[in-house]
Amino acid sequence: MTVRTLFLNHSATMGGAEFGLLDIARSVRDTSLVVLLEDGPFRERLEGAGVAVRIVEAGAIHRVRRGSRAPGIATLAALWRAAREVGAIAADHDVIAANSQKALVVGAVAARLTRTPLLWHLHDIIEAPYFSRLNIKADVVLANQCANRVIAVSRATADAFVRQGGDPAKVHVVYNGIDAHPDDPAAPNAAATRAALGLAGVPVVGCFSRIAQWKGQHVLVQAASDLPGVHVLLVGGALFGEHAYERTLRDFVRSLGMTDRVHFLGQRDDVSALMRCVDFIVHPSTAPEPFARTLIEAMLTGRAPIASACGGVPELIESGTNGYLFPPSDAEALRDILRHLLVSPDEVQRTAEAARQHARRHFSQAAFVSAITAHLESAAMSRPTRRAAHRSEEVVA
Ligand code: GLC
Repeated sequence: MTVRTLFLNHSATMGGAEFGLLDIARSVRDTSLVVLLEDGPFRERLEGAGVAVRIVEAGAIHRVRRGSRAPGIATLAALWRAAREVGAIAADHDVIAANSQKALVVGAVAARLTRTPLLWHLHDIIEAPYFSRLNIKADVVLANQCANRVIAVSRATADAFVRQGGDPAKVHVVYNGIDAHPDDPAAPNAAATRAALGLAGVPVVGCFSRIAQWKGQHVLVQAASDLPGVHVLLVGGALFGEHAYERTLRDFVRSLGMTDRVHFLGQRDDVSALMRCVDFIVHPSTAPEPFARTLIEAMLTGRAPIASACGGVPELIESGTNGYLFPPSDAEALRDILRHLLVSPDEVQRTAEAARQHARRHFSQAAFVSAITAHLESAAMSRPTRRAAHRSEEVVA
């Protein structure tokens, strides 16, 4: 069955949810369209992959934040306009697939207006204190009333949705899947990357994540402050305006006298080369991480990731076998793991190999894309669309 899918995403900045959608949309590009509620780098990435994109500017909707209270008139008006426009585009599609919370809000109204089935790909752990009561309530009501299916990126994400009143019959777990990057023969080798960074011959720990308070870069810096000679690479930018946190982080590094050991690389396109050049990869989120694609990327690069045990992360890592878990915000526990691994090369090699196998076996991009496509097909069939309704009436008659 060919499902004409209208993917809807509010943001045009490349975060984890956008990378996942890029892979899905690319694989069904002949029958799909991606609608973005703003213009930006994601449009370029999609178009570069041969995916058709439309921008529906949603203005005031973008001012709504995770913790926002009741929306004002301007926001509601922008929402209504965007939903009508998306509804008009949906007339040529079998299913709307909303990829974010704001996309759910717009997509739910558009789906209702046009009687188009709706699937919500849920990439967030929707719980206080990270989201406001109103935010959570709106998500749950709209998902229960308007979505045919909710795809959660981890069991933890699904459980939080159900705890908040989400309909358990609608929610299915599909883990993200990522392709092992084929080694680009033109890419610099690890030693060359190291040399270019001026880090030849020293132990290096990398963190590959946007700069944000809840991503916990400060926990890694704190842990490394007790590990003389260890350098820290922070790869990622303050993508969603967390510049105040970046300033605090830089001050923290200065106050610990670590400016020569902590390297802020900003947002980079050569992530796999950088991952290959570090000894260890740490993901120190302080709030429940719904999935964390960076952990799978680390595993595919042949690194057993060291991550805080929260949200969906323990579903991805078996501590001591293919990675290491430590309690969120516990810099001392992280320091102890690193201290142990720095002198345990055999163990590092063993867990790294197990990590690579684990990611290949359980988190392949092919399995991810085919599971999502199957859910899109089921969603498209779960309620008659306008044309399908006609057809079934004919059959019944
Ligand atoms: C969101 C989540 C992240 C997850 C990604 C892909 O960005 O915060 O944990 O890896 O979506 O599902």
